[in-house]
Amino acid sequence: MKHLINILDLSTDDIKELILIANDIIENPEKYALKCAGKKLATLFFEPSTRTRLSFEAAMLELGGSVIGFSEAQSSSAAKGESIADTTKTVNCYADIIAMRHPKEGAPTVAALNSQIPVINAGDGGHNHPTQTLADLLTIYREKKQFSGLTIGLCGDLKFGRTVHSLISAMSRYSDNKFVLISPDELKLPSYIKKDILNQNNLQYHETSDLQSVISDLDILYMTRVQRERFFNEADYIRLKDSYILTPDKLTHAKQDMCIMHPLPRVNEISVSIDDDPRACYFKQVLNGKYMRMALILKLLGVI
Ligand code: NCD
Repeated sequence: MKHLINILDLSTDDIKELILIANDIIENPEKYALKCAGKKLATLFFEPSTRTRLSFEAAMLELGGSVIGFSEAQSSSAAKGESIADTTKTVNCYADIIAMRHPKEGAPTVAALNSQIPVINAGDGGHNHPTQTLADLLTIYREKKQFSGLTIGLCGDLKFGRTVHSLISAMSRYSDNKFVLISPDELKLPSYIKKDILNQNNLQYHETSDLQSVISDLDILYMTRVQRERFFNEADYIRLKDSYILTPDKLTHAKQDMCIMHPLPRVNEISVSIDDDPRACYFKQVLNGKYMRMALILKLLGVI
């Protein structure tokens, strides 16, 4: 494991190991406080971020390492027309590991091909977001104690939502999971994921636009934001943005132990009055993301 571009770069054994490391970090943080002393993480963020960038930075600082980087394309030489390959080769002279977010699908792959140091995909366009999936997996593991036999509802923008694409890929490798794909017609899961992941692995899935008709079946409800920045047309965004708004009354028929997840940021998808419901897991996901990124950095730097 040199780079993490796609969640499928990690075997299920790798994921098990990262979860064990993350759990040990949670229990014994002092053991890890100096593990990355003298190492530098570069966060190259060509797209806005709060959680992912700060989570990577907090992860590295809690491991005793340091952080350099930029948080918008405009403040990097990309604004002057520099290629991803050249930026990556440059950063190789300064850092030990890179976390890159980019609006173009495949950009972190190009970086990895031009890098001697590990590159982590921190979100590439509407494609993948493997470290959000690591956060999601630790959350599912801690809440459900298993990755199998779950009915997983994914709701909202399944077309552009990269967290959904990576989570489906990850969960497709465990047995007896069922996927319920809840979206407006225009925002359905791309057919390449249905073909390459769901059909290829003979997985059960069901598409609907009606959350209420399926909510009682779900063990996990993964809500997502409509991805405004990927739309060609603002009028379409405005028409679709409030397709799903989860309010307490809509949970009446949901299971008592259904896990409500969201990669955040939320816009209107989950009413704040749900935040105190014991089923709300989205702020736990944020914290779990930091621990999984710590585990990943340790693994990729080979210091564990
Ligand atoms: C997600 C992303 O960037 O894809 N956010 C995150 O990293 N937690 C989800 C989103 O922006 O909607």
